[in-house]
Amino acid sequence: MNTVIIGTQWGDEGKGKIIDFLAEDSDCIIRFQGGSNAGHTVVVDTQAHIFHLLPSGILHKGKICVIGNGVVVDPEILFKEIEAFKDKGYNINSRLKISSLSHIIFPYHKIMDVLREKRRIRRIGTTGRGIGPCYADKINRCGIRVIDLINPDVFSRKLKDNLKEKNEIFRKVYGFGGFSFNSIYKTYLDYGKAIKPYIIDVSRFLNEAIKKKKSLLFEGAQGTFLDIDFGTYPYVTSSTTTAGGAASGCGIAPTSIDKIIGVAKSYTTRVGEGPFPTELSKKFSEFMRKKGNEFGATTGRPRRCGWFDAVMVSTAASVNRVSELAITKLDVLGGLKKIKICIAYKYKGKMFRNYPYDDLDVLEKGRLIWQEYPSWQEDISTITEYRKLPKNTKVYIKAIQDLLRIKIFMISLGSQRNQTVRI
Ligand code: GDP
Ligand code: IMO
Ligand code: MG
Repeated sequence: MNTVIIGTQWGDEGKGKIIDFLAEDSDCIIRFQGGSNAGHTVVVDTQAHIFHLLPSGILHKGKICVIGNGVVVDPEILFKEIEAFKDKGYNINSRLKISSLSHIIFPYHKIMDVLREKRRIRRIGTTGRGIGPCYADKINRCGIRVIDLINPDVFSRKLKDNLKEKNEIFRKVYGFGGFSFNSIYKTYLDYGKAIKPYIIDVSRFLNEAIKKKKSLLFEGAQGTFLDIDFGTYPYVTSSTTTAGGAASGCGIAPTSIDKIIGVAKSYTTRVGEGPFPTELSKKFSEFMRKKGNEFGATTGRPRRCGWFDAVMVSTAASVNRVSELAITKLDVLGGLKKIKICIAYKYKGKMFRNYPYDDLDVLEKGRLIWQEYPSWQEDISTITEYRKLPKNTKVYIKAIQDLLRIKIFMISLGSQRNQTVRI
């Protein structure tokens, strides 16, 4: 069974936790897009592990973890992460595979990310990890790939070409000094030597695994509404975060995918700028942020919080053809007087039940149509069986299921592995 996991909102839905849970029954866990802008948290015995580049399956002994061609790799962060997990006692060497075709993030991408953001009239709220500029180079056909780092002549030529153009832009447009060839060349050749043992042809490796009926788990990063096409453009990331990206991001056929699981938080959060129709007032936002510990796993920024948006998640379900949903962080909604779900937007007399991703005006100025539900006062974080949940929690879960017409197969009631209930 080959399964893709994707976020159905603006990222941070709790994908890391669900992937860690499902990794147990998988042979191979594969990242297919994004880069170290991701922050996937897995909590084991009160220790929180945050994954930026390594697939969240690393904690499971013997599982193969793969970084596909669709990922942009920052070697500095990659090796920091590898070392950190080695120090914690995890054996990584024989289990990590990296595509020769993945594009590399250089210091000039990260600086460009920050400088460009500063000059924008309406900022995106980028993580500043160099993601956008690196994907831009890939599409502009001047990017440098993993394989280039182990070929000194090719790497030297490509880096020279890049610096010639980029340093001129840095100086003339941004008044920034530019980068020296020698220091980047030397540092990245060293990264090349270190990365060499991990390099493989990921497409071939995975297609052989598929033939052998291995079970693959594709780990999406970010979320549907940060997708470069279907997100709230331009307040998005620069990759295909939707399920289709799993095929192109590691060289498998779409027909090899058996199941697509969407992860949704039981409310909504967003980190960074852009429209957020169901965003709550400061007071309520504060309550959720505190109770749900809503601070970015990558940048530490406070996440904006709001009610569950059924228009958004049902559109994500359609774009990704989600077959099953996992709903996380239900424990956070306990103790409130009431819970709200947005079921439609109304703008200029027109009702919207599908996400208007081509019209940010509807999202920014539209009126929201709500349904209200009673909350529950009990602590549900220790409950291990669905039938033991308070009646109102079940009413809320069923409401989401009925609104989206998609089976909720799993709910999460806390950050720990055992705070997960299959339905
Ligand atoms: P991801 O990027 O989608 O993997 O999500 P993040 O790791 O960025 O953010 C999710 C946060 O919520 C992490 O701190 C998780 O440990 C935590 N978390 C996951 N599921 C639950 C849950 O059901 N309840 C609570 N209280 N926390 C959760
Ligand atoms: P995970 O995988 C939440 C947001 C940034 C910013 C926008 C563009 O942990 O769910 P970028 O650095 O990609 O240029 O930033 O996208 N963003 C995320 N928000 N979770 C993420 O990843 C994110 N990755 C990027 O905050 O608004
Ligand atoms: Mg995250």
